[in-house]
Amino acid sequence: MTIDMIPGSSGRIDAGDDKKITYFSNKYVLGLTVVAGIGGLLFGYDTGVISGALLYIRDDFEAVDQSSFLQETIVSMALLGAMIGAAAGGWLNDVQGRKSATLIADVIFALGSSVMAAAPDPYVLIFGRLLVGLGVGVASVTAPMYIAEAAPSEIRGGLVSTNVLMITGGQFLSYLVNLGFTQVHGTWRWMLGIAAVPAILQFALMMFLPESPRWLYKNKSSSEAIATLSKIYDPDRLNDELQHLSAALEEERRGRNSVRYRDVFRIKEIRLAFMAGAGLQAFQQFTGINTVMYYSPTIVQMAGFGSNELALQLSLIVALMNAAGTVVGIYLIDHVGRRKLALSSLTGVIVSLVLLSVAFFLESSGHTNIGWVAVLGLVLYISSFAPGMGPVPWTVNSEIYSESYRGTCGGMAATVNWVSNLIVAQSFLSVADAVGTGTTFAILAVIAVAAVFFVLMFVPETKGLTFEEVERLWRERARGRGNGSEKALLEDNET
Ligand code: BGC
Repeated sequence: MTIDMIPGSSGRIDAGDDKKITYFSNKYVLGLTVVAGIGGLLFGYDTGVISGALLYIRDDFEAVDQSSFLQETIVSMALLGAMIGAAAGGWLNDVQGRKSATLIADVIFALGSSVMAAAPDPYVLIFGRLLVGLGVGVASVTAPMYIAEAAPSEIRGGLVSTNVLMITGGQFLSYLVNLGFTQVHGTWRWMLGIAAVPAILQFALMMFLPESPRWLYKNKSSSEAIATLSKIYDPDRLNDELQHLSAALEEERRGRNSVRYRDVFRIKEIRLAFMAGAGLQAFQQFTGINTVMYYSPTIVQMAGFGSNELALQLSLIVALMNAAGTVVGIYLIDHVGRRKLALSSLTGVIVSLVLLSVAFFLESSGHTNIGWVAVLGLVLYISSFAPGMGPVPWTVNSEIYSESYRGTCGGMAATVNWVSNLIVAQSFLSVADAVGTGTTFAILAVIAVAAVFFVLMFVPETKGLTFEEVERLWRERARGRGNGSEKALLEDNET
């Protein structure tokens, strides 16, 4: 194994093909990923379950049935909670560590689910949704980061994307559970309450897992960090990893010690990284994934499949396709890279949004038998989005920030994701009412075109790079290669 330290080179570890760790070869890291990914499962489940549960909540509470405001609040309170949870979760991760953040999220999840299951009135239910949302927000930042920090760089994308598979799997599961509990006494209480089980399970399993080795090394005990890293790497590679880690932390120590939010915008390399990460998060939502998921029953009905039940079953298929597509993404993200994957995903998304737009235009101008165009658009959309724009933003955000800013910036970018999610969810129907569904899908297509340019201009390729190489990449982008970079960095830090 060699470390290429030629000046100006990336200094990457050349592990040699025989030493490369593969997705399935390190059971310890894979196990850790799956346990951390229960956070993703809860994210997917808690955001997916409400549409089905709401039908039965309306049956039980007349006030909810009669007020669309209450219905909207029950749905969107979790998004509001997630926004706050993501912002606070970033900070919590940096200060308390990734393991503690996961445990805290589990307590909030379990509490929120129990409150909802026992809710005597809609207001207690709304409070429970807020709690669960807080948990979702914290988990959305913590799980990718915890996984990325334990992952060998050559499989990091696939492992972080496994958390996204747990999200899409959680959404699928929530639809299944919704179907399963329709005949059970207490319907929605079960649907919402059962989410306490994975939270408790994750809490118990996390007790056997270590704190993130990178966080430990920086903040607490290097010997504990080394003990964990030695379970992941063989002795040669371990030495290399430790050398890189201590060099990177030394470099950071020469800069600022305390993390300040305004530095995210003032120090150029942090700003560039944050723009790339937050932009990807915003584009993930503004290209319409959640509206397409939400609209899938309507699209299917438009194709001539009349019954509600059939439409629901078909949207189960859409959710299954989304999860299956994520599996493809897990493979591709470390093979073709983040940029190519995002770009090809966006290309498919653009074509499918145009198809959907055309289908709705034709339908509104009285054409019949064009439902199949819409279904084709839907199928193409999910199969394009799921492997790329689903996992890429979460992966990139888990790996582009420096040690000190990983939590803070990751949390802020996740907040951007949740705010964008809420904006799209709240405005889609009124925009569609005002300008028509066809135009609305056309607007989403234009946004997806903008996303292509954004990725081309602002998102670097981070496939296979170590965290230290990624840091160097931003320094080079901010300052240009070679001389002057240290000086400029210090000047920035003095202001
Ligand atoms: C997004 C979610 C979305 C899910 C569906 C995730 O990556 O963050 O908002 O619902 O993908 O595929």
